[in-house]
Amino acid sequence: MALSLANPCQRRLTFVPNAQIPARRPSFLAAAAGPLPVLGIETSCDDTGAAVVTSDGKILGEALRSQAELLRQYGGVMPLAARLNHEQAIDEVVAQALENAKVKESDLAAVAVTIGPGLSLCLDVGVRKARSISRCWRLPFVGVHHMEAHALVARLTNADIQFPFLVLLVSGGHNLLLIAKDVGDYVELGTTLDDAVGEAYDKTARLLGLDICKGGGPALEELALEGDADAFKFTVPMRSHKDCNFSYAGLKTQVKLTIESLNINGAVPLASASSSDRQSRANVAASFQVVAVRHLEDRCRRALEWARELEPCMKRMVIAGGVASNKYLRSRLGAVAKEHQLDLFFPPPRLCTDNGVMVAWTGVEYLRLGLYDPPPPVDEPEDYWVDLRPRWKLGEICRETSSGRPVKKNTEDFPSLTSQISQKKSALNAS
Ligand code: KG4
Ligand code: ZN
Repeated sequence: MALSLANPCQRRLTFVPNAQIPARRPSFLAAAAGPLPVLGIETSCDDTGAAVVTSDGKILGEALRSQAELLRQYGGVMPLAARLNHEQAIDEVVAQALENAKVKESDLAAVAVTIGPGLSLCLDVGVRKARSISRCWRLPFVGVHHMEAHALVARLTNADIQFPFLVLLVSGGHNLLLIAKDVGDYVELGTTLDDAVGEAYDKTARLLGLDICKGGGPALEELALEGDADAFKFTVPMRSHKDCNFSYAGLKTQVKLTIESLNINGAVPLASASSSDRQSRANVAASFQVVAVRHLEDRCRRALEWARELEPCMKRMVIAGGVASNKYLRSRLGAVAKEHQLDLFFPPPRLCTDNGVMVAWTGVEYLRLGLYDPPPPVDEPEDYWVDLRPRWKLGEICRETSSGRPVKKNTEDFPSLTSQISQKKSALNAS
């Protein structure tokens, strides 16, 4: 049974005072007699997730609470309401994950938590919970990049995925094409200039009057099966741009204008639509999906050209993030990978959308490298300022030059995860 979390500090401090973090950090997991359980916590957006994963990659237990009712009520994520929901759920979700794993807090070896990117108000709830457990039980602490967790969870479910690999991350807030060179080491080939593909799915689903309680994407994918994808000719974005960036704002506008011209009333739920209205909606859904995915196909083809120049022996590609659970996307990008003789990997659909497992596993990947922080001081006050990174780049940026060849450029004035981890790795090697 999981322990009550009512006042964990007092409980712990009475019988295990301030255990030391191993001085030789890289040996932390390697020196253990058997696999060690790591707790992961995710609250960056609208899912409260927690899981326990062992250092040898076994999922011991997990729990997830989504904010379906809020999504339906507001038609999107409202940060204040989402935070309140996380606050109400977090203790129970963590306790449930531990109970499912048959692990007590005192058995844990480390705690990992998403510290960015995401909504600060929401990240804060998970980070405070993780810090309180890490502080009370003197556990190593790993602050996780949400998008890296999406990418690395593929290595939990498939041990064949060695670095380097190309990775396409497609979620509600991000579209990223990267070369993953190592844990904490990414080259960003492209990102979205405006909206992410998941956002375009969600917006289109709302305009079509779909039930978005499980997210707009799954509802739209289902309706698209009934539609004619040739019914409307939407323009594939950025075909003349010879780079790896994405843009979905134009497609969203085309879809909105088409829906208006068809007099589709999104306030009328799909279930109440007449059969011809339903068919029109399905045609829009199918036509949208074909073009949304074709844009991903185009950008992946270009990214492969760049990636092969930067990493000539690249043989693998990973596609992850919520939208990667889409079956149509899986089959189309499967064909692109085949064209280029690449081995393509997707995490299982339930691990594509936000969850605690991906965070716990990313914690394991960092612990293996000795990259973690000591627990917070025992006297850290409850209202302590915590380090959150709502906007946080994953990789060092790579852009095409006038010669048409890709080069790495640091155009951002805040450090990416990759530059921070490179400094930490150097410091570790020097010590
Ligand atoms: O990764 P995720 O769970 O959260 C973010 O980090 O944003 O991704 C959520 C996004 C939502 O936009 C949702 O509609 C989309 O992933 N999504 C899908 C599917 N399942 C989830 N989009 C298309 N088809 C799906 N089957
Ligand atoms: Zn996500």
